[in-house]
Amino acid sequence: MALEISLAGKVAVVTGAARGMGRAIALKFADAGCAAIAVNDLRIDDDLHSLGGELRKRGSDVIVFEGDVSKSGVVSGLIDAAVAKWGKIDILMNNAGIGRKVDIFGTSEEQWDKTLGINLKSVFMGMKSAGTYMKEQGYGVIINMASMSGVTGGSQGPDYSASKAGIIALTKFGAKTLGKFGIRVLALAPGYIQTDLLDSLFTDPKFKAERLAAIPMGRTGTPEEVANVAAFLASDLASYVSGDTILITGGRLS
Ligand SMILES: NC(=O)c1ccc[n+]([C@@H]2O[C@H](COP(=O)([O-])OP(=O)(O)OC[C@H]3O[C@@H](n4cnc5c(N)ncnc54)[C@H](O)[C@@H]3O)[C@@H](O)[C@H]2O)c1
Repeated sequence: MALEISLAGKVAVVTGAARGMGRAIALKFADAGCAAIAVNDLRIDDDLHSLGGELRKRGSDVIVFEGDVSKSGVVSGLIDAAVAKWGKIDILMNNAGIGRKVDIFGTSEEQWDKTLGINLKSVFMGMKSAGTYMKEQGYGVIINMASMSGVTGGSQGPDYSASKAGIIALTKFGAKTLGKFGIRVLALAPGYIQTDLLDSLFTDPKFKAERLAAIPMGRTGTPEEVANVAAFLASDLASYVSGDTILITGGRLS
C-alpha cells in the first residue's frame, strides 16, 4: 500500500484561513481526512464562506470564526469553540500574519505594536490556549507560521522580521517545555510564496527581479507546496519531529 499522509479523525484549528497559505493548509488538512476544522479570519467574507463550503465538500465538519487574532480572547475563543463542539484539539496552525515592505525609519511605534500583536503575540496566546487542552489529552501538534525573514533578517520590515524570529524562538521554547506532555511544536519558514502578501511586497519590478534571481529553483513557491509540508508535520508520520523550523524556500538559504 502506498504511504500516505493521514489526518483521519483529527480536529484542527487554522487562523488567517480565508486566503493564501492558511486557506491552502485548511484544504490540505481536509484532503488528508481531518474530521473537523475551525477556520478563522478577520471577517466572515465571501472567501471565508467559500472555504467553509469547500471543506464540507471534502467531508470535514467546520466552524467559521471571525476575529482579529491579536485581540484578547479571539484565538482562545476559537480553540474553546472547537473543543466545545468536537471534544478535543489535535492540531493548531497559527498562520495569520501581516507584512509590508518598509524600512526602520518608516516603521511607527503603532505599526510595530500592531505587527507584533498579530504575528507574534497571537502565536503565544494560541500556544497557551491549545496547550492547555493538549496537555490534558497528552497529544497535540502546534505549527507556527514563521518566515525565512526570521532566519535571514529579511527584506520586508523590522517589525515583520522581528516577529518571525520571535516565532522561531517561541517554537523552540514550546517544543522544549511541552514535549513531556506529548505536544510537538514546529515552525514553517517559507521563502517567497505566491499570495496577496507577496504581491504587496513585489510592487517594485527591480526588487522583484533581484529577489527572484536569489532563488536557486528560479521560481516562487505555491501555497500548496507549503500546505504539503504542514500536513506532513501535523501527521503522525512526523511523530519524532519537534522544535524545528522547516525552510520552504526553493533552496534559498540567505
Ligand atoms: N507569502 C509569502 O511569501 C510568505 C512567506 C513567509 C511567511 N509568510 C507568512 O505566511 C502567513 C500567511 O501569509 P500569506 O502570504 O498567505 O498572506 P495572505 O495575505 O494571502 O493571507 C493572510 C490571511 O490572514 C488574514 N489575517 C490578517 N491579519 C489577521 C488578523 N489580525 N486576524 C485574523 N486573520 C488575519 C488575512 O485576512 C488573510 O486572509 C503569514 O503569517 C505570513 O507572514 C508569507
